[in-house]
Amino acid sequence: MTNIAVLGTGRMGSAVVRRLSAAGHVVTAWSRNPARAAATGAKVAESPAEAVAGADVVITVLTDGAAVAEVLFGSGATLRPGTVLVQMSTIGPEATAAIVERLPGDVSFVDAPVMGSVDAVAAGTLVILASGAVEAAEPVLRHLGTIQRCDAASAVKVMQMTAALTAIGALHDTLEVAAALGIDRAAAMELLAAGPLAGALRRATSTTADFPVALAAKDLRFASGTTPVVEATLSLLAAVPDQQADICALIDRESR
Ligand SMILES: NC(=O)c1ccc[n+]([C@@H]2O[C@H](COP(=O)([O-])OP(=O)(O)OC[C@H]3O[C@@H](n4cnc5c(N)ncnc54)[C@H](OP(=O)(O)O)[C@@H]3O)[C@@H](O)[C@H]2O)c1
Repeated sequence: MTNIAVLGTGRMGSAVVRRLSAAGHVVTAWSRNPARAAATGAKVAESPAEAVAGADVVITVLTDGAAVAEVLFGSGATLRPGTVLVQMSTIGPEATAAIVERLPGDVSFVDAPVMGSVDAVAAGTLVILASGAVEAAEPVLRHLGTIQRCDAASAVKVMQMTAALTAIGALHDTLEVAAALGIDRAAAMELLAAGPLAGALRRATSTTADFPVALAAKDLRFASGTTPVVEATLSLLAAVPDQQADICALIDRESR
């Protein structure tokens, strides 16, 4: 049993709080929107400072690097010596390095962005890309999914999101080609499910994931300026009318 503070109870943070509480950990949740923290059923802290005061492990699950820096360094929170900070938000390599630079030397840092959505958190099947002081966080992280150790987890996350999102972009274009060729859409989907875009199709037709287009674009912008395929996928994401819809909207004709 570990005292855990989760900072940020949006989609992913709430699911993390519930999963870790169910595993028997003592979890304190903080959100700038207290109702969202209370909805998790965990103990709610009024401030980040209160949340981290008694924590062995602090998990940040916030929107972006600016939010993580603000909550960790601009809120009056002080991580006590020996705290393990697990940074789970997708913030890219530069913001990650900037946070590490500002941490006290007696705090252990785990760079731990994740692959998988709220459904994977609930099922304990996330893929947690992890670098840094991974051993210290392992007893907590193993309740959330599989740990994939790597040298620089935030860089690997950008690589994996580039793979995932450009594949869904390729699926979008393939379905346009299928339509131009007069292939029935349902038949095309069935045939593609046994082809090279099977993984993208599975994700793009999920009914249980909840990863907004806006957050996907935020992730892919970390790879912006590298290749035409990345830029084309960013344009596809920008064209989705409801930026809060799950990325299924990229291939969902009803939503366009
Ligand atoms: N959703 C997914 O499937 C998924 C999968 C893998 C990785 N991720 C990554 O995980 C992170 C969280 O994603 P999410 O889907 O949980 O997003 P979300 O639902 O939008 O939650 C983000 C949380 O951050 C809080 N926040 C944002 N800016 C803040 C600030 N300046 N100060 C304090 N709190 C702030 C939000 O508070 P409010 O509620 O008050 O706005 C919210 O609680 C993101 O980096 C995302 O890219 C998401």
